[in-house]
Amino acid sequence: MPTANGRSVELYTLANTRGLQAKISTYGGIVTGLKVPDRHGKLDDVVLGCDTLGGYLSVHPYFGATIGRYANRIAGGKIRLEGKEYQLTTNDEGNHLHGGWHGFDKVIWEAAEGDDRNGPALELRYVSVDGEEGYPGNLSVLITYSVTEADELRIDYSATTDQMTIVNLTNHSYFNLADGGVSDILNHHLKIEAERFLPTDRRAIPTGEIRSVERTPFDFRESTPVGARINDNDEQLRFGNGYNHTWLLNRSGRLAELAAEVYAPSTGRAMEVLTTEPGLQFFSGNFPDLTFRGKEGRFYPFRSGLCLEAQHYPNSPNHPGFPSTVLKPGEVYAQTTIYRFSLI
Ligand code: BGC
Repeated sequence: MPTANGRSVELYTLANTRGLQAKISTYGGIVTGLKVPDRHGKLDDVVLGCDTLGGYLSVHPYFGATIGRYANRIAGGKIRLEGKEYQLTTNDEGNHLHGGWHGFDKVIWEAAEGDDRNGPALELRYVSVDGEEGYPGNLSVLITYSVTEADELRIDYSATTDQMTIVNLTNHSYFNLADGGVSDILNHHLKIEAERFLPTDRRAIPTGEIRSVERTPFDFRESTPVGARINDNDEQLRFGNGYNHTWLLNRSGRLAELAAEVYAPSTGRAMEVLTTEPGLQFFSGNFPDLTFRGKEGRFYPFRSGLCLEAQHYPNSPNHPGFPSTVLKPGEVYAQTTIYRFSLI
């Protein structure tokens, strides 16, 4: 059993009878592999990642990881709850990103296997103690991964606290439905169920403005290749070095609803993202000049994976008008996100 800091780490496999197969590590709750058939029935891994635990223990851009306590950025790492200010750790240009230096992507989760109503399932539990990365309250988190006969990887999150706190969980998988990250994702066609997005400053913090996607490169209301406008002369694209923004999802109820659809014309693999969350961070893998060493020792080229992170809006605690991310004792945080695969 490989270990992290002397503690053993396990890798679980969930599969359905049709060949869909997910591998999930107790380190970071990381989805390390996801095998999906192409139009000829060939199973390939469609997520970027590392071959060994050692890879995940070194620097990587949150490949497949569970992100918490707060996915995305909080300006200055500052939040105020019940009149009290809390300083979260600042690990990204003076801001708090993805839970801080030692977020949920770097902790070891307690695992229990089983079949839930959706199919073979894995439950991961973690208790984040009061003060961890600056957050108030002991937060108990349960994540259930399941693989369904409808070719879905489903992730259900829940959390409770003993003190008022904030929570915003997501999964940070990088998808490449063509070849798992050998080539770029610019030819993937993407549709996002959103009329509006959040412009940001240069450090990817939302300015507070809510902008219509109309007549902007952020309009994915019709399925459009990711690369069609990514190099347009647009201030927001320059700030993100491509897409690194939150779209405000069109939503009508409380259940998981369609947020996005993406497909790779070369393999016919298509993926729908359904979620209960109000926002979708679409990150087109725009790392400035570094690329990361990944599976089979390869380097992943620029923009070779795309993230569709279902979450609340970045910096919500400092924008009273954004949907709240506050969790109080006695309440249950719940979020469900489903990645559903099909062929076109
Ligand atoms: C963020 C990017 C960041 C990346 C991972 C994304 O969710 O929006 O700004 O570079 O995660 O490192």
